[in-house]
Amino acid sequence: METIWRMLRSNRAAHTGRRILSLFDDPQRFKDFSIKADDMLLDYAKTSIDREARELLLKLAEAAGVESRRDAMFAGEKINISENRAVLHTALRAKDGPVMVDGQDVMPDVKNTLARMAGFANALRNGKIKAADGGPITEVISIGIGGSDLGPAMGVKALGAYHDGPKVRFVSNIDGAHFAEASKRADPARTLVIVASKTFTTIETMTNAETARRWLGAGAASQMVAISSAPDKTAEFGIPSERVFGFADWVGGRYSVWGPIGLPVMLAVGPERFFEFLEGGRAMDQHFCHAPMAENMPVMLALTGIWHRNICDYPTRAVLPYDQRLSRLPAYLQQLDMESNGKSVTLSDAPVNQLTGPVVWGQAGTNGQHAFYQLLHQGTNVIPCEFMIAAKGSEPELAHHHDLLKANCLAQSEALMRGRVSRNLRPYRKFPGNRPSVTLAYPQLTPFVLGQIIALYEHRVFVEGVIWGINSFDQWGVELGKEMATALVPLVKGADAAGKDGSTQGLLKALDAG
Ligand code: F6P
Repeated sequence: METIWRMLRSNRAAHTGRRILSLFDDPQRFKDFSIKADDMLLDYAKTSIDREARELLLKLAEAAGVESRRDAMFAGEKINISENRAVLHTALRAKDGPVMVDGQDVMPDVKNTLARMAGFANALRNGKIKAADGGPITEVISIGIGGSDLGPAMGVKALGAYHDGPKVRFVSNIDGAHFAEASKRADPARTLVIVASKTFTTIETMTNAETARRWLGAGAASQMVAISSAPDKTAEFGIPSERVFGFADWVGGRYSVWGPIGLPVMLAVGPERFFEFLEGGRAMDQHFCHAPMAENMPVMLALTGIWHRNICDYPTRAVLPYDQRLSRLPAYLQQLDMESNGKSVTLSDAPVNQLTGPVVWGQAGTNGQHAFYQLLHQGTNVIPCEFMIAAKGSEPELAHHHDLLKANCLAQSEALMRGRVSRNLRPYRKFPGNRPSVTLAYPQLTPFVLGQIIALYEHRVFVEGVIWGINSFDQWGVELGKEMATALVPLVKGADAAGKDGSTQGLLKALDAG
């Protein structure tokens, strides 16, 4: 692979000074540098990738064994080697089996759990499941953090146009303010509390769950549901097994919205819509497994990421959905991407020899335009942007808003690329331009499309991880802070801080509330 990396760098060096705009002298540029997957389109023509660079990037993917790693993942091989686990979130959205793990078809369990979720969601939505006082349940508080929160929170918001079920609130932060804010607008007699935690040991979630139990009072016995991979722990907490929705350890937290962790989404929009979301994910899986590499959307999105990170040395990438309902998507993708690919050692424990995951950040357009786009256009760092936009909005009576939204989205990618460099302008009015972006265009933000988008990004992260030779499915980097927090609790309460560094001692003193 070293030779290919070198050739890629030479390609970049050979074209220093070439403007992205000049690549459009080729009338085929858009046609040849965009990809369709069903009716979704990815345009990567506004990047500095030319035909030669693309060939080399595809060779890189081939040399890294992307196809065989992909097949190993879908076949249930234990590719998460540090945890000795298969990686099969794709099974949660698969139509038919068998999908084998340790010689067992996991699909009957997957289907059974999905049917239980649908039964529960229907019964709650049509009032058959009642609160402790016999009245209806009209609100849900979902407690979880990281992958047990970001997916359902993003999903409920994204599918707001389809939301016809109970009101759903989310509590994740251990900061008591989060539970206090969510619960002060809710009625404990009318609320179902979902405790979502794969391990059922996460300190934030368990602390919030205990608080919720007290808040529910008489309703606690019948108005709590658990979602977890640890049935022993949910039983210990006191939730009866018929109100526990389980999932296997081969579903990573940040990949878990497709199964029981997605229950808040199903409660909000109903099982049928949730199944459409799964179908969208499945359609992207089919595309990822069968489209040739050069026409494979997750592969090409990953290769633009590799180009920008490793060849252009750009340290971050911005995710900019021009879709208010996707406003939680940047936070969701932050975990998906940065927890997966923020790694420094390879699968064989060697230090990685390339830069790995970039900082992922962003905000919904057009709000971001009035906040940080100044830096995108005139700052000293180049930040590749990933725009997302629907052909049609979800508010038919407000179509004129959507026209303006589209115009703004297209204006930004064009402005970033073209810039404004006229000699007559004062320097502060000049825009250097030549700043790359990709645009994902979809017909409308339906459950199906949301499924496509999430699966697209999952596979993109996977392909980048394969090229870097890292394990995208563990997250050991979060452990040290968790351990230290546990050890610090007695010190925060006043125990002797001897042995701590001067800064930590000083801060403990400053934070002593007496
Ligand atoms: O922050 C680390 C992490 O393990 C994430 O990977 C996970 O999504 C989150 O904590 C929550 O974990 P759990 O679902 O076990 O509570």
